[in-house]
Amino acid sequence: MADRLENSKPIVAVTRKLPTPVEARMTELFDARLNADDVSLSTAALCQAVASADVLACTVGDGVTRDVIDSAGPQLKLIANFGVGVNHIDLEAAAAKGILVSNTPDVLTEDTADLALALILMASRSLSSGERVLRAGRWDGWAPTSMMAGRVNGKKLGIIGMGRIGIAVARRAGGFNMDIHYNNRRPVDAAVAQELGATFWDDLDSMLAAVDVVSVNCPQTEDTFHLLSAERLALLQPHAVLVNTARGGIIDEAALVDVLKSGKLAAAGLDVFEAEPTVHPGLIGMENVVLLPHLGSATHEGRIAMGEKVIENIEAYLAGRPLPDGV
Ligand code: 8YV
Repeated sequence: MADRLENSKPIVAVTRKLPTPVEARMTELFDARLNADDVSLSTAALCQAVASADVLACTVGDGVTRDVIDSAGPQLKLIANFGVGVNHIDLEAAAAKGILVSNTPDVLTEDTADLALALILMASRSLSSGERVLRAGRWDGWAPTSMMAGRVNGKKLGIIGMGRIGIAVARRAGGFNMDIHYNNRRPVDAAVAQELGATFWDDLDSMLAAVDVVSVNCPQTEDTFHLLSAERLALLQPHAVLVNTARGGIIDEAALVDVLKSGKLAAAGLDVFEAEPTVHPGLIGMENVVLLPHLGSATHEGRIAMGEKVIENIEAYLAGRPLPDGV
C-alpha cells in the first residue's frame, strides 16, 4: 500500500455525514469519500466502499459484518469507528484479515453521562409524561395529587459497568445525593471508590434486587447481550427505574415491555434500542417510559472531538505509529 499511496492520498470511505469541520479536515488530508446525502449505507454499498478504500470510517448504524469485511480489498487495513461501541463491527473477522479497528473513547464520556442523569431524572419524575399532558392541552392546573412520581434524592443507584462513563454517571449522581452501587468485572480503584462512596457488588442479581435505579453503562458484547434478561428484570423492585445509554441489546426489550406493562417496574429511560432505529411498539404508547433517539454523544463539541479522534487514528495508522485508540 505504501507504494500506491506515495503519490496519492489514501482513500477514506466515510459512511455518514460528519460535522463540517471534520469533513473539511478529512478532505484536506485524505481522498475522503463523503456521504453528502447522509443516507445509511446498505450492506451492498458498504461492501462496495471497502473494495477500494484504504480506511473505512464508520458509525454505529453500519453493520460491518463478516460479509462486508470479506469484501474488503487487500489495501483496507483500518476500520476507524466514529463512536466508542464497536458491537456493530465483526472484530473477529477484522482481526482474521489483519484489519485494525479504532474507536473514539473519552471525548463522549461527559456528554453520555449527562444524558444518563437526564434520563434518571426524567424517568423517575415522569417528566416527559408531564410535558405531553401540557402540550396536549390536558393540564387543568396544579393539584396536590396529580402527576406525582418517585424522588431521586437519597435513592440507591446501581450502575452496571463502571468504566469511564459509569464513573462519570456516579460522580453526577453523587451530586443528587444518590447512594452509589455498581457491578463490574472487578472493583474500581480504591481511591475512586472512596471518592464516590461506591459499593461494589460482584453479584449482579443481588445488586438488582437491592437498588432503586439502575443505569446500564457496559459495552454490548457476546457476554452482555440480554444481560438484563426476563429473569433478571424480574429481580428489580416494583418502584425501580431502569435507564440505558449503552446499547439496546443489553436489555431484552420484549421482556422490558412485559415488566413495565405488568407494573413490576415503575419506569424506564432509554436512549438506545435493540434494533435501532426500530423501537419495540410496546414501548411507544407507554406513559412510564422516556424514549430518546440515541442522543448520548449528540453535542456539537462531542461530535467534532469524535471526528478529530477518527482523524488522529487514521493519521497514526498511515504514519505507521500505534493507534491511539486501538480496539
Ligand atoms: C455515538 C455511541 O454517537 O460512541 C458510541 O458508542 O453510542 C454514540 O454515542 C455513536 O456510536 C456514533 O457512531
